[in-house]
Amino acid sequence: MSEKKQSALSVLKFATIVCLLCSLLVSTAAVSLRGFQKENADNEKKLNILRAAGLAGAEEHLSTQQINDKFTQIIPLVVDLATGKPVSDKNPLTYDMYNAARNENEGHALSDDPAGIKRIAKEGVAYVVADGDHISRLILPIQGYGLWSTMYGFTALSFQEKHPEITGITFYKHAETPGLGARITEPTWQALWAGVIPYDDNGAPQVDLVKVRNPSAKNQVDAIAGATLTSNGVEHLMNFWLGEQGYKPLVEHIRKGEISLADLREASQAAIGQNGQKTE
Ligand SMILES: Cc1cc2nc3c(=O)[nH]c(=O)nc-3n(C[C@H](O)[C@H](O)[C@H](O)COP(=O)(O)O)c2cc1C
Repeated sequence: MSEKKQSALSVLKFATIVCLLCSLLVSTAAVSLRGFQKENADNEKKLNILRAAGLAGAEEHLSTQQINDKFTQIIPLVVDLATGKPVSDKNPLTYDMYNAARNENEGHALSDDPAGIKRIAKEGVAYVVADGDHISRLILPIQGYGLWSTMYGFTALSFQEKHPEITGITFYKHAETPGLGARITEPTWQALWAGVIPYDDNGAPQVDLVKVRNPSAKNQVDAIAGATLTSNGVEHLMNFWLGEQGYKPLVEHIRKGEISLADLREASQAAIGQNGQKTE
């Protein structure tokens, strides 16, 4: 073999070994970081629940320990969306309602789908914050299509004199455009939601995102300038999840005093206790 050919072969061998080593390094890193990625995703979700609940500041960054400590103030539940009643056969700390939606037995396709989510689980998670022996906040997951992506977040309701009022909204996952649709994650825009009355006098969801807000309209929120399509998505998903196919039955039970804080606390403890050993 000529010297030239031999050196080309050596270069090829060297390049192959380097490629193999690099791919081994990348796959080892990917596998070993999986645990951290899951922990980060879980923390981000919990932090958003705490922020929606008003238990963590919009810009506040907390350690895993601090998040878990604060999360002890939250009563997690799995709720039958059709009846609005808590169920005890699923652990609310591990149940994934978005995975369940894709499952034939646990979810179903939507024929009326204003939020653009295609399928919904029969049971959804909900989180409650207590104030003495009263329900101070109900935190609900929200999900719906914007312009480019499905947006995931939480909204919180208070029940002042039994009338539901929005106290917070957060988004923890989406792929809308930075500076445009992605402004759904900005605290200044999220702050506009405090005090919005989401239901009309007949109990129908009425959230309205508008370019020019009427200051006396309690159901209106300023749409994001230059991101009308994302804003429309947020309006649709809010009205969907607060409606009959979403959490309205649960909201109605709480509003009418048919479900008490004690009932929810008991249901949560039963569900976590019964299913505490299961990992899903
Ligand atoms: C590159 C690019 C990215 C965009 N991203 C978004 C977006 O994330 N959300 C959105 O509603 N509109 C986005 N738009 C604008 C929409 O196409 C549309 O013009 C806009 O929603 C209309 O809103 P306006 O009536 O407030 O101007 C984007 C446009 C371009 C060119």
